Amino acid sequence: MELSLLPNDIQEAHRDFPASLAGCADLDALMRLKGAFVGRDGSHAARLMDLLKAAPKEQKRELGAAVNTLKQQWEEALKTRQGELEQARQRDAALAKAWDPDLPPPLPTRGALHPLNRLMERMVDVFRPLGYHVEEGPEAETEAHNFDGLNIPQDHPARGSADTFYFKGQDGLLLRTHTSPVQVRVLRRIGARGADGLSELERSGGIRFLAPGRVYRKDEIDPTHSPMFHQVEGMIVGKGIGMHHLKGTLAYAMKALFGPGADVRFRPSYFPFVEPGAEMDVRCPLCGGAGCRVCKSSGWVELLGAGLLHPNILAMAGIDPAVWSGFAFGMGVERTAMMVSQTPDLRLFFENDQRFLKTMGGLD
Ligand code: DAH
Repeated sequence: MELSLLPNDIQEAHRDFPASLAGCADLDALMRLKGAFVGRDGSHAARLMDLLKAAPKEQKRELGAAVNTLKQQWEEALKTRQGELEQARQRDAALAKAWDPDLPPPLPTRGALHPLNRLMERMVDVFRPLGYHVEEGPEAETEAHNFDGLNIPQDHPARGSADTFYFKGQDGLLLRTHTSPVQVRVLRRIGARGADGLSELERSGGIRFLAPGRVYRKDEIDPTHSPMFHQVEGMIVGKGIGMHHLKGTLAYAMKALFGPGADVRFRPSYFPFVEPGAEMDVRCPLCGGAGCRVCKSSGWVELLGAGLLHPNILAMAGIDPAVWSGFAFGMGVERTAMMVSQTPDLRLFFENDQRFLKTMGGLD
């Protein structure tokens, strides 16, 4: 219908109709609007019906169809809005019902250490009574500390850019691929001679430390790999240190971490910075050794690399390998966390799902 045929006030009301509809904050307001547009007496629709009755015969058909269309339009829009407001009212009622004034108010959530940090603290706590302290090194490390000082040959695949994150345009700077460069830093420090001609190592007679921290490798993310993970490095330098010290210390530490029943085994292995080198496995606590996804059906999970310090890395730090010896180990924290908490997927430790973190990843 030509809108201009309608009385002015109805034209105006029709134009404002969408805004009036949206402005109805509750069902009462909507009912008032409904009355004004399509109510039985005096509404815009009622007046249009009166107009129609009074119209000349030949206009009736056309005018009637037009008035009906308009009325239908109003009715439909009113119905939709009514549905929305009814839903909102139900929601409010449900909320009001759920509110129990006797309940204590919600308390502010308290922050806590991440389960992986907790576990590293626990490892440190296991070693502290044995005389170990904590040493730190930077995550942005030099090739010299990360590789060269560890006797790692120039053509070793770990040096490649397929395995290691290098900083662009910063020669020799990388994200450390393990915590072992802390060994190099500490050895150089304790091997350096002071004004009295003595080194820190000679003055102290030995050193034991742990170096927990983040490390980075170009690994695809899967249930047992992540490009950022954590290690705890351990090292002891003294006189007459042998493989028996290494095995005794680690077997003790594993029982302290996993419980007195913890079962470990050592396998010969190769790392350029130790001789001899070994890997230590723990019997898979998830399946008890029967074989599962985490232990790749072998019943054992590799937890750390270790060995007696290679004479070269002592000599490179100015320490006489004929006098001094020691052992070192590097332990995967995520692996250990998975074992201790029986979590089959390390991604849970990085996804920050509060429900998981609140259980401390099972590490409490
Ligand atoms: N750095 C080695 C790695 O990330 C682990 C390791 C092996 C550390 C032998 C050591 C060691 O201190 O002696 O795979």
